[in-house]
Amino acid sequence: MSTEQEGGQKTAPEAKVAPATGKLGVMVVGLGAVATTMIAGVEAVRRGLAKPIGSLTQMGTIRLGKRTDNTSPLIKDFVPLANLNDVVFTGWDLFEDNVYESAAHAKVLDKETLEQLKPYLETIKPLPAVFDQFYVKRLHGTHVKTGKNKRDLADQVIADIQAFKQTVDRVVMIWCASTEIFIEPTAVHQSIASFEAGLENNDIGIAPSQIYAYAALTQGVPFANGAPNLTVDFPAMVELSKKNAAPVCGKDFKTGQTMMKTVLAPAFKARMLGVSGWFSTNILGNRDGEVLDDPQSFKTKEESKLGSLDYIFQPELYPDLYGDIYHKIRINYYPPRGDEKEAWDNIDIFGWLGYPMQIKVNFLCRDSILAAPIALDLVLFMDLAKRTPSLRSIGIQEWLSFYLKSPQSAPGLYPEHDLFIQSMKLKNTLRHIMGQSLITHLGLEYYD
Ligand SMILES: NC(=O)c1ccc[n+]([C@@H]2O[C@H](COP(=O)([O-])OP(=O)(O)OC[C@H]3O[C@@H](n4cnc5c(N)ncnc54)[C@H](O)[C@@H]3O)[C@@H](O)[C@H]2O)c1
Repeated sequence: MSTEQEGGQKTAPEAKVAPATGKLGVMVVGLGAVATTMIAGVEAVRRGLAKPIGSLTQMGTIRLGKRTDNTSPLIKDFVPLANLNDVVFTGWDLFEDNVYESAAHAKVLDKETLEQLKPYLETIKPLPAVFDQFYVKRLHGTHVKTGKNKRDLADQVIADIQAFKQTVDRVVMIWCASTEIFIEPTAVHQSIASFEAGLENNDIGIAPSQIYAYAALTQGVPFANGAPNLTVDFPAMVELSKKNAAPVCGKDFKTGQTMMKTVLAPAFKARMLGVSGWFSTNILGNRDGEVLDDPQSFKTKEESKLGSLDYIFQPELYPDLYGDIYHKIRINYYPPRGDEKEAWDNIDIFGWLGYPMQIKVNFLCRDSILAAPIALDLVLFMDLAKRTPSLRSIGIQEWLSFYLKSPQSAPGLYPEHDLFIQSMKLKNTLRHIMGQSLITHLGLEYYD
C-alpha cells in the first residue's frame, strides 16, 4: 500500500493486536436505564430482532488507502473486536431488580421487545453495590455492601471481579450508575499511596465510583466512566492505570444536547461567525433526571456540559468572536416525559459587521437510546485497547473522546471536543494500531 495517501504517512509498524479470543466479561456499575437498554439491545441484535443503530463498532466503516482504492471495510472486520455473541454481562446495583425488572421500570424499550428478551434478561441479577447516600442524595438503596472501611469495600469489589474472571476470558468495567455530587481532587487523589491511605481512613473525597475504579485498575481491568463524576481523572488513577496496563477513559456519555453542541460550535468557528449567547435547557423525567434534580449532582453535570464550548471556541485566540459568550445550562426534572428528554437550545450568533442572528434547536430525543450504543462501543474499544501493545499502558485513551462530553486528556493538554476531529482521531488510531497509513485529507496526489 502506498505511503502517500492524501498527505498521509505510514506510522511505525506496530506489535500485533492480540485477537479477541473467548468470552468478554462486561461488569456494569449501575443497572439502570442506560445499562439495561445496552444489555437488552445487545441481546436483541444477537437474536436478529433489531439492528445496532448508533453503534460505530457494529455499523461503521473505515476507509483505507486512497479515495480511488474504494476500500472501506467494516470497523469490526478491520480491528479484532469481541463478537457480540461472546459478550457476557454482569453488574452491581443498589436495587435488587434483575435486568428485566429494571428495564421494565425504566420504560425505554417497549413491552413486546422486553417480553421476548425476558428469559435472558432475568438471569442477570445485580451484585450488591458500594453505595453511600452522601454521594447521591436522591437514592435510597438496600442492596449494598457493608464493610469496616472503604478499603474493605474495595476488597469486596475485587473479590467480585476475581469471581467473574473465573467464568470469562477478559473483563472490562463501565460506570453507568448515577451522577455523584461534585468533588474536587485533593491530596488523597495525588498518588496511589495517598489514595490507598485514604481508603483505610475513609477519606470523604473517595466516592463509591472511585472504589469501583480502584478495584478494576488494581486487577488490570479497563474502566470507562459514563457519568461526569470525579472517578478516574486524577493522578492516582492514571498512575494505577499505567502501572497495571488497565486503560481508562471518561467522562460522561456525549449523547443529545452536547453532541449537537460539539457539531454546531465547530461549524461557527470554522466560518468565523461570532457567538454572544448559548442557552440550553432540558426536561427529562427518568431516574437520572431525578438524581440531577439535586443541586450537588447537577453541579457535577453542569461542569461537564459547560466545558465544551470554551475549548472549541478558544476565546483567547478569538476575543472578538467568542470573548463574551453567555452560556447557560438548565436541566429540569419533569416526570411525564420519562426517558424521552426534550432539549432546547437558543443560540445568538453574529456575522459580517456584527449583525445578529439566532438559531433554535429543539431535540426530542430518547436519552438511553442514544447512550446505549455509546456504552457498548466504549466497552468493545476498551477491550481492544487492553489487547493493543501501544495503547494498554498509556493510561488515558484520548482517542475515545468521540464518545464523551468531558474528555479526559493528559495533564496540561486541552481536550479535543470537536466531534469531527474526535472521529478522525478515533479512526486514525485504529489505522495506526493496524499498521495502515493515516489519512490527513490533503489529497494533492490526485492532481499530479
Ligand atoms: N442517558 C444519557 O443520555 C446519558 C448521557 C450522559 C451520561 N449519562 C449518565 O449515565 C448514568 C446512567 O444514566 P441512567 O439514565 O441509566 O440512570 P438511572 O438512574 O436509570 O440508572 C443508574 C443506576 O445506577 C444505580 N446506582 C447508583 N449508584 C450506584 C452505585 N454506587 N453502585 C451501583 N449502582 C448504583 C442506580 O440505582 C440506578 O439503577 C448517569 O450518571 C447519567 O448522568 C446518561
